[in-house]
Amino acid sequence: METMDRKEFLSLLGLTSAAFAVSYCFGGCQPMSNASTAPTNVNFTLDLTNPAYSALNSNGGYIYNGGVIVARTVTGTYVAVSQYCTHASGTVIYDSKNNDIYCPVHGSVFSTSGSVIQGPAGSPLVKYNTSLSGNSLRVYS
Ligand code: FES
Repeated sequence: METMDRKEFLSLLGLTSAAFAVSYCFGGCQPMSNASTAPTNVNFTLDLTNPAYSALNSNGGYIYNGGVIVARTVTGTYVAVSQYCTHASGTVIYDSKNNDIYCPVHGSVFSTSGSVIQGPAGSPLVKYNTSLSGNSLRVYS
């Protein structure tokens, strides 16, 4: 079996680290323009009996639809905001542990109404309205 010498190993490691740094935090984690922007004129209705949306039948569950993250919070209310982080368009998640919206790409935190709690994101997520009627959840601008 061929063994890698130390120089080759360090060279490989250096390359990997550099590639990682570039992909993880390009531009030094400064706010960047959005590659994906918040949807406008949102207007859709989710059938909560549809298995695709079953996560919304439990507190803490969430789904994505048309660029929007729709969550049922730990207190049972429905919220909807753009799924695209305003920092660099990472896809945000609903964090039921803290009842907030979290971007796993660089760690921005937003309230469930979209306002910035912690950067690097500098502007809020667009918030949408929700309205529940029976098993129909409407999400709209
Ligand atoms: S993309 Fe950077 S914090 Fe979300």
